[in-house]
Amino acid sequence: MPRAVRYDQYGGLEVLQVVEVPRPTPGPGKVLVRVKAAGINPGEASIRKGLFAERWPATFPSGQGSDVAGIVDQVGSGVSNFVVGDEVIGFVNDRSSQAEFTVVESSNLVPRPANVSWEQAGALFVAGTTAYAAVRSVALKTGDTVVVSGAAGGVGSIAVQLARNAGAKVIGLAGDSNRKWLTDHGVIPVTYGDGVEDRIRAASAGKVDAFVDTFGGGYVELALKLGVAKNRIDTIIDFAAAAKHGVKTEGSFEAANADVLAQLAGLIAAGRLEIPISKVYPLAEVREAYRDLEQRHTRGKIVLEP
Ligand SMILES: NC(=O)c1ccc[n+]([C@@H]2O[C@H](COP(=O)([O-])OP(=O)(O)OC[C@H]3O[C@@H](n4cnc5c(N)ncnc54)[C@H](OP(=O)(O)O)[C@@H]3O)[C@@H](O)[C@H]2O)c1
Repeated sequence: MPRAVRYDQYGGLEVLQVVEVPRPTPGPGKVLVRVKAAGINPGEASIRKGLFAERWPATFPSGQGSDVAGIVDQVGSGVSNFVVGDEVIGFVNDRSSQAEFTVVESSNLVPRPANVSWEQAGALFVAGTTAYAAVRSVALKTGDTVVVSGAAGGVGSIAVQLARNAGAKVIGLAGDSNRKWLTDHGVIPVTYGDGVEDRIRAASAGKVDAFVDTFGGGYVELALKLGVAKNRIDTIIDFAAAAKHGVKTEGSFEAANADVLAQLAGLIAAGRLEIPISKVYPLAEVREAYRDLEQRHTRGKIVLEP
């Protein structure tokens, strides 16, 4: 029997298990995908801990994961856009991609370009579409200066590249271990922590036009202090500050679709976007993978491979 990640109650890493499950069958309009890679995301850890129990409750036993890349193994009735053997990138909305097999709506799949690695393909959906929406929301144009917090994380590492592609000067807030990666991607690295405001003013010559916050913890207020207009500040995490100050919160919901996914895959294929893969874990090591992610120092993405 194929294996899948499951948990039966809210809790810490210890509730995560990899268990044998019946092989799923694709219904009408759906496709069975043999998973090659599935990215992991901090929001999944928050759901598993019960932090979103009111907003996005789990139903037990719960599976886990939205991001997926793999090979079409079986198609349901009415599916005309994919055939068995196709290599695909996609997403599920029922928390089931961290598994050997998952059933995906055929409209949630796009072809995997041949030169996009399985790891990058499998890590793309949540972080990529979130970065896309966040960068789009601050309306960058050539010559703008934008600051991105969490600049080397899953969302941030993609956001800084999309902002560069839009013609902006990009200042990335990150720890010292990420300076080289950021510089190599055309981003000005600025170390976070005490004195960050002065360092941003120095790096930007006092002109910051937009701010994308992927970390939270005071960056919305910092953006306002730097003189950024409210409609050019986007946070994907600090919803309390957004409500208080009236800044934007565009994230995965606004661009969570196959069209954006295909665009991002095309950028990778064209060499205009890289998804840094910090580590690949076997499915059986799902707890170790989330332990690593929950340190909050991932460069790019962590991926599970069945
Ligand atoms: N609203 C949405 O639609 C949406 C969608 C996806 C994610 N999210 C949320 O957005 C957040 C980011 O997600 P992610 O996947 O990008 O997370 P991640 O990959 O875990 O981000 C980790 C990054 O945070 C950086 N970091 C650590 N301490 C920092 C500090 N004090 N200041 C600035 N950066 C710091 C780290 O940089 P160093 O290693 O350089 O220290 C690391 O690169 C999470 O809270 C997630 O839940 C929201």
